[in-house]
Amino acid sequence: MSRVPLPYTAKVLDLFRNPKNLGKMEDATVVAVAGNPACGDMVTFYLKISDQEVIEKATFESYGCAANIATSSIVTEIIKGLTLKAAWEDITWKKVTEEVGGLPSIKFHCGVLAVGALKRAIRLYFEKKGAAPEWLPKDHTFEEKQALEEEELAKMLSKRLKTAEEEKK
Ligand code: FES
Repeated sequence: MSRVPLPYTAKVLDLFRNPKNLGKMEDATVVAVAGNPACGDMVTFYLKISDQEVIEKATFESYGCAANIATSSIVTEIIKGLTLKAAWEDITWKKVTEEVGGLPSIKFHCGVLAVGALKRAIRLYFEKKGAAPEWLPKDHTFEEKQALEEEELAKMLSKRLKTAEEEKK
């Protein structure tokens, strides 16, 4: 069966083929792994944060699709030099989708995962510090809710698998 290729923009395809800031960061200040409940893919974000709470460097590893690689790549580029507050407030999945020239609607969740992983990393930074600033909402944002922690994702997937097995019986 031949598949119809997804209508990705030239920018998405270019970032997919030549992603920026791809790979592990050994001296990261914080590392966050997030999984996507819609497709089961995972992404890891590494942030190097200065004492002034500025993002000096960001890298990522993705086990997701082209849309996730492209959006994760663009996130690591645009957050460089931003304060954690600015990164938290300015980076949304809609903005990231625009930055890559748009995504097919069935791929929106891939950009949501990239932003969710970033937000989880920022939240984790303050959790480790033991002091949250007043601009950080107590409730998880839409993107964080859509980007599950590794354990939550594993639980959800095994539940889904069990249900599928039950249905086969
Ligand atoms: Fe899973 Fe895109 S389909 S991240």
